[in-house]
Amino acid sequence: MLSRPDVAVVGAGPVGLAIAWRCATRGLRVVVHDPAPGSGASHVAAGMLAPVAEAYFGEHELTGLLTASAARWPAFAAELTAATGVDVGYRTEGTLMVGLTTDDLAEARRLWAYQQRIGLPVTPLRPSALRDREPALAPRVRGGALAATDHQVDPRRLVPALRTAAERAGATLVPAAVRRLSDVEAGVTVVAAGCGAAALTGLPVRPVKGQLVRLRAPGGGAPGFRHVIRGYADGEHVYLVPRSDGEVVVGATVEERTDTDVSAGAVLRLLRAAVDLLPELAEYDLVEALAGLRPGTPDNAPILGPLPGRPGVLAATGHHRHGIVLTPVTADLIADLISTGTADPLLAPFTPARFTPATAARSGSGPSVPEEEHTWN
Ligand code: GLY
Repeated sequence: MLSRPDVAVVGAGPVGLAIAWRCATRGLRVVVHDPAPGSGASHVAAGMLAPVAEAYFGEHELTGLLTASAARWPAFAAELTAATGVDVGYRTEGTLMVGLTTDDLAEARRLWAYQQRIGLPVTPLRPSALRDREPALAPRVRGGALAATDHQVDPRRLVPALRTAAERAGATLVPAAVRRLSDVEAGVTVVAAGCGAAALTGLPVRPVKGQLVRLRAPGGGAPGFRHVIRGYADGEHVYLVPRSDGEVVVGATVEERTDTDVSAGAVLRLLRAAVDLLPELAEYDLVEALAGLRPGTPDNAPILGPLPGRPGVLAATGHHRHGIVLTPVTADLIADLISTGTADPLLAPFTPARFTPATAARSGSGPSVPEEEHTWN
């Protein structure tokens, strides 16, 4: 164990591990604290890299950060593979956004018009063009649009790869929970503990539950579709993420709840919407139904940068629905900030100071944190 590292990262999800990797490759001595690396939100996450399809009304600054991070993904994935030999499942077929009924299409078109207005690459497709791209789509699907630049990666490959890359670059993993930041000895402490950041820092990070289902194509083959599909189906919002190894992720609910129970009703709604859009999914094997907790914030955007009143403590949390896509930009900007002392202008809208009440920021020791809360990321 290092005597006093330059950087301690609390949380070994993708964000924490990528920060550790980037810091270690800059020559800093790094430790990462987590009792169960990669067992949090990233274990559940679908891995969509979707700055276009997930550009929502009123989130202009977040959309800018998502776009900047998605642009870093090709080089990030290639660098990670070169460092570790691990294929992280980065795929570039793009995303089809589709509406099942006339009402679904009307709702979807309103969002696509907004996305086009702010300059994002959304290409409306006639039903025939949609089926040329994905013949497995149900004949009932009324219409759609292509977000060609929205890609995907497999989080369950990503996290082990990041861990290997960080360790090969010299970072040390400490498999234990951090209960108080005052227990951590380091030049700089980065809190990348997802929902656990709330108790450690007083920042307003809250769990937002998501349930999803994993299916597998029968016979050991690849799924019968190639694009990520984001569908509106009889008022349900669903996404379908095909992996080369035959897996299909069907997600996800968005619930203001703190449990990780899986309910029959949620699974029913997800599968009904999925099969309405792609009937062949009814023949797939049901592998897993699970729930995770996204680290949400009051404005749905991450919290990145120095904590006011807490010298030497940085936050990299609150990534909510975007932890995987935001991993490269978060890691680069936080590592740059630590190594140069200069904050990239991209960080400005996401500073912790937008939320921090002075009292919470000054509190030296928060309440004790259950171990599992440290692992969401
Ligand atoms: N970004 C997908 C989700 O949060 O469900």
